[in-house]
Amino acid sequence: MEEKRILCVGLVCLDIISVVDVYPAEDTDTRCLSQRWQRGGNASNSCTVLSLLGAPCAFMGSLAPGHAADFVLADLRRYAVELTHVVSHPESSFPTSIVISSVSRGTRTILHTNRNLPDVTAQDFEQVDLTQYKWIHWEGRNAAEQVKMIQRVEAHNQACPAHQRVSTSVEVEKSREELYQLFGYGDVVFVSKDVAKDFGFQSAAEAVRGLRTRVRPGATVICAWAEAGADALGPDGELVHSDAFPPETILDTLGAGDTFNAAVILALSRGQRLQEALTFGCQVAGRKCGVHGYDNIV
Ligand code: FRU
Repeated sequence: MEEKRILCVGLVCLDIISVVDVYPAEDTDTRCLSQRWQRGGNASNSCTVLSLLGAPCAFMGSLAPGHAADFVLADLRRYAVELTHVVSHPESSFPTSIVISSVSRGTRTILHTNRNLPDVTAQDFEQVDLTQYKWIHWEGRNAAEQVKMIQRVEAHNQACPAHQRVSTSVEVEKSREELYQLFGYGDVVFVSKDVAKDFGFQSAAEAVRGLRTRVRPGATVICAWAEAGADALGPDGELVHSDAFPPETILDTLGAGDTFNAAVILALSRGQRLQEALTFGCQVAGRKCGVHGYDNIV
């Protein structure tokens, strides 16, 4: 039987990336080491990685027409990401990020613009045939709508036999109060270092322990902490840790978190244990940091 797909719901945008040695000072004129266009957005990046890891996957998000949209659509096709659930907004502008990637410091500075592209709604999500998917992941954005989407999946799961259930995960990456309601949903909750710090936690282990009461009983909380690796708290309260696997030379950290999420989701969706999934996530994210973009991460 064909493996069911993993669906990622969230942003696709255009990343215009300038690679520099040292992050430039204001009001200076610097020559970049290189410059490129790359498809971006957390959910879209996670799809890239899932595909490269050999997992059939689909992207659901909004699109506004234009050259940037043509570029990202062609790129999604190039990576064999299924696009049945892309919602078009002809009146909107396409979201873009200017990214300065500094190789000497391993930093990526993002200037993002998204003027008027509406996120997909619970109504759009009604069109999704849930039986096609084994896992659905939401990049936290329009949280109130996303809660309704997850509730639809929960209702579906209650009505079908265990082996046909759809697993769910959410990512709370930006420190925005509205997103924090998502902690209470999903089988797996990914929380970023930024959000963990916003809650006052000083490490990934502190964060997953401290956020346990906010997630629903039986859910897993996962927090990646850059070079300190990642920690997770499983359904039965077991705390697991993986060290980071930094490459010899860090070239590009853009999308490292999205890469980590994709690898962990894939491992868990294939029945691996939390420790194995976390270690795999850190390994793939580490490899990603050693290359420009995503090719050659496998
Ligand atoms: C990386 C990323 C970029 C995008 C930005 C949007 O995680 O998805 O591809 O420009 O974040 O916030």
